[in-house]
Amino acid sequence: MPSARIRTAVLISGSGSNLQALIDAAKHPDYPAEIALVISNQANAYGLTRAAGASIASEVIAHTDFPSREAFDAALHAALTAHHIQFVCLAGFMRVLTPEFVKKWQGRMINIHPSLLPKHKGLHTHQAALDAADTQHGCTVHWVSEGVDEGDIIAQSALDILPDDTAETLQQRVHVLEHQLYPKALKEILNTQCQSHL
Ligand code: GAR
Repeated sequence: MPSARIRTAVLISGSGSNLQALIDAAKHPDYPAEIALVISNQANAYGLTRAAGASIASEVIAHTDFPSREAFDAALHAALTAHHIQFVCLAGFMRVLTPEFVKKWQGRMINIHPSLLPKHKGLHTHQAALDAADTQHGCTVHWVSEGVDEGDIIAQSALDILPDDTAETLQQRVHVLEHQLYPKALKEILNTQCQSHL
């Protein structure tokens, strides 16, 4: 049990259902993370409403306001630093981060991806699993490294693909797995692997 909860930021671009799962988990007094900040690159992301509902500080940092990826990532880093953030969870954050930013947060930033990595990196993972005639599909929590969806795997959760599954039904079913996996993986990481680095 850590002595202090780790100030954690969640970066989103959309609905934020994974953000909600993390917020809900962090309500438990024994949870090692405090969700201290939500950053969205989209002003209309529903996740911002979720943050407000939980009285969590939020910022919109719109990538369209910046001339380069480097400038956008510098603004992200400045916001994280200003809020004394110790750990970052990407949760449906649909921007590729620069190597400079990733280096700054190496070992302190994780992502959830809707496939059983290393299968189906990138977008449209549910259709990709169907197209590949996979028998299983799922989600992965991994460390963020310079290569997109390539960092070391922390945890995975799988389901059997059913004969009548579509990309939509898979998305819904994988989301249920994600909402269980992400809070559990974050808890395990903070309780074990990286306390000494934070
Ligand atoms: C989730 O399925 C997450 O795994 C995926 O976006 C969705 C966000 O949903 N992330 C990626 O595809 C990143 N490559 P949410 O906004 O409801 O949490």
